[in-house]
Parts: sequence; C-alpha cells; structure tokens
Amino acid sequence: MPTNTWTRHHILSLADFTAFEYDTVLQTAASFQEVLSRRTKKVPTLQGQVVANLFFEPSTRTRSSFELAAKRLSADTLTFTSATSSITKGETILDTAKTYLAMGTDIMVIRHREAGVPSAIAQEMDRLGVRVSVLNAGDGQHEHPSQALLDLFTICTLLDPNYPQIELLKNKKIVIVGDILHSRVARSNIWSLTASGAQVHLAAPPTLLPKLFADYGEDRPGKLFLHWELEPALQDADFVMTLRLQKERMTANLLPSLREYHQLFGVTHSKLKLCQPNVKVLHPGPVNRGVEISSELMDDPEFSLIQTQITSGVAVRMALLYLIGSGKV
Ligand code: NCD
Repeated sequence: MPTNTWTRHHILSLADFTAFEYDTVLQTAASFQEVLSRRTKKVPTLQGQVVANLFFEPSTRTRSSFELAAKRLSADTLTFTSATSSITKGETILDTAKTYLAMGTDIMVIRHREAGVPSAIAQEMDRLGVRVSVLNAGDGQHEHPSQALLDLFTICTLLDPNYPQIELLKNKKIVIVGDILHSRVARSNIWSLTASGAQVHLAAPPTLLPKLFADYGEDRPGKLFLHWELEPALQDADFVMTLRLQKERMTANLLPSLREYHQLFGVTHSKLKLCQPNVKVLHPGPVNRGVEISSELMDDPEFSLIQTQITSGVAVRMALLYLIGSGKV
C-alpha cells in the first residue's frame, strides 16, 4: 500500500519500490541538486550521524559518490575497503559489520561480490534491535538500487529539470544493451523503468540474455521486450543504456571475440541513426572504450549523459541517505 510518508528503513532492492517512493527520491534529489549548485554545498541534515561505507569489492564512483554525499550532509564517514582490512586476517563480514555498529554507525552502505550480503547484514541489525539502516551499493549480480535511481534521475531531469517524476517516462522507449546476464545495474533498472511505464528493450547475444529475463516484466506498468540483435531494439529509441562486459563474473567463454561483439552490439554514432534524433546514451561506468560503446560516442556531449550520471549520483545518494537517515537523532 503506497503511503504518503517515507517508511522504508533499508534500501536493498527496487523490486517492490512504489511509485510514491520513486517520486520522493526524484524530488528529494532535485532539492539536493540545488544545494550542490550553491557556493556553500553543505547542509547540516545528518550532523552527528555516522555513515560507514563497507566496500568488500572494488569501486571508484559508487564509493566516492556515497562518501561525498554523506559529507555534504555533514555526517561523519568511515570508509572500509576489504584489501586493507581485518578481512584479510580471517574476520567474517558479520563481525566487520558489528565492529562498525559498536562505533555508533547509523547507516551502512554495503557492496559485496555475493548477492544477498547487504540483506543478510540488514536482517542481523533488525534481529539485534538496533536502528541501523543498510543501503545496498551493489551485491553480486543481484541489484544496484542507487545506480538505477541515479539513472532514473538523470533521465527524468533531462525531460523536466523542474519537476522530475516517473510519469515522464510513460511510453518512452529505453534500450539496455550489453552483458545483462551478469549485471546488477540492468536488474535494478528493469525494476525502476518498468515501474515508470517505460517500454524497456533488452538487447544482447543469447548467451548474455537468457529468456527468463522476460519474467521480470510481468505485471508491471511498462512492458519488457527481449532482442538478440541490436538494430531492432534501437529503432526509434529515446534512451540507450550501455553496459560493460563483466568479464570477472563470466565463468565460460560466452562471446566469440571482443571485435565481433563490438561490431554486433557496440553502440556507435552510426547505429544511433536508427533511434530518435535527440536520443541520449547512458553508461554506469567503468567503460571499456571501443567494446560496448565507441570512444567517440562516449565523449560526445550531444549524445552522452555519462558525466551527468556521475554528477547526479551525489544528489541522489544524498537523497537516499537523508530519507533513511532523517529522524535518527
Ligand atoms: C557498476 C557496478 O559495479 O555494478 N558500476 C558502478 O557501480 N558504477 C557496473 C560495472 O561494474 O560494470
């Protein structure tokens, strides 16, 4: 049942996010975007609270973006990276989380290469009866909610900078192309975009896009279409999201060669001619230039929203930390 106040304590998945929650995130992020355009870019909202970034897997933009977002809200931040931690001495993940709990952490932002770790830590915090919120910053192939929300914000603010809302995406054609099988970004985006009423077209070679993905689109306001060729997917598209080939997650040789992959599924200026004339391209990063997207297109500000996505990420993560963190002190 949608409510008119924010009640979600942890952000672990977008599978059950409501329209009200999407719009609240978008509008809260818009107001923080305005704060970030001021000369003094900081607000006292989370003063006295501790935000711990627990990154058990490498990350550049997500970790830095959460750290900056927490600092802009005046929270105290702790940053953990597994390579330099006691994990290397045999400490369990749960014990690491409890160490941060004992230091007074209010919000844990967690990334792990195994699906389900953030939700296991959230369950443990709830079992202990402590008011600690957990935010999933990417778990295995499962979900990456803050990335999909910043993608949503990037698209909606382009369509209406003054009033970003999911309604703007109704019947827009959005293509997600690349290694969908291994992508948590794709899974979270499928939830947010189909909830917004967009027509979502997935495109990849069959080895990277199994038929079971069609199930994600059942009973959602927006429809989901699967393509094993890129060109039909691109026809009249409004937005194209490109994804990296996640080689670290591939257990078998799923592609003949990178050259052939680029020819068939790489997004380039010439392939974009099939799309709407004002089509825009997104990519969550990190990018393999010349593989999933041509280097020229990535750097072309007429089409590429990649830098805007990174900028939007800070405002969106401020919104998420604010929404789950306010009322704690
Ligand atoms: C993505 C991730 O880590 O899931 N990157 C990101 O968070 N910006 C996508 C990727 O690794 O390719």
